[in-house]
Amino acid sequence: MRVLIAYGSKMGGTAGMAEWVADGLRGIGHEAEGVDGKECKSIDGYDAVIVGGGLYANRWAKGARRFVKRHRWDLVDIPVWGFSSGPLNDDTAAVGIPPTDAVEALLDSVGSRGHVTFGGRLVDDPGWFPASSMSDEMSGDWRDRTAVVGWATGVGQELHALESKASG
Ligand SMILES: Cc1cc2nc3c(=O)[nH]c(=O)nc-3n(C[C@H](O)[C@H](O)[C@H](O)COP(=O)(O)O)c2cc1C
Repeated sequence: MRVLIAYGSKMGGTAGMAEWVADGLRGIGHEAEGVDGKECKSIDGYDAVIVGGGLYANRWAKGARRFVKRHRWDLVDIPVWGFSSGPLNDDTAAVGIPPTDAVEALLDSVGSRGHVTFGGRLVDDPGWFPASSMSDEMSGDWRDRTAVVGWATGVGQELHALESKASG
């Protein structure tokens, strides 16, 4: 299947994770490409979509929010999954973190099949407020490539199952 990974990312961390998601999907035979949700004009030609957003005050970064709102009526027709990247600690590895209310509302509006929260990254010198004052205490990278690729592989397997159901 051809899968689009649309991301909303302010500081690049989630954009990088979209590439890891694409790697996981390609690893089991899907075509996959990542795109900034703000830039995406159409989702024609894609069989499934994964939307990923960095979390800011419990909402996805704008690219992800705008993508879902703009393409809502096309997204309802195809399989959709979501991921969030945020927590600047190891909690996501220890316990599953559910979507925030705002993220859940967006995903529900398109009938999403699942969501996962991954750790985030805060760079040392983000150069904007309040990120710069947060980074004095909280900078670091809690993104886990193995976990992201593993989740994407699971999504890819579900897509293969849907494919064989449709052709059988
Ligand atoms: C101003 C600000 C607000 C944030 N709010 C949240 C939040 O509500 N929940 C959370 O889990 N992480 C929060 N974070 C952490 C970010 O989600 C994390 O740095 C993420 O990896 C950023 O993604 P990006 O690099 O793709 O923009 C916040 C970070 C900043 C700088």
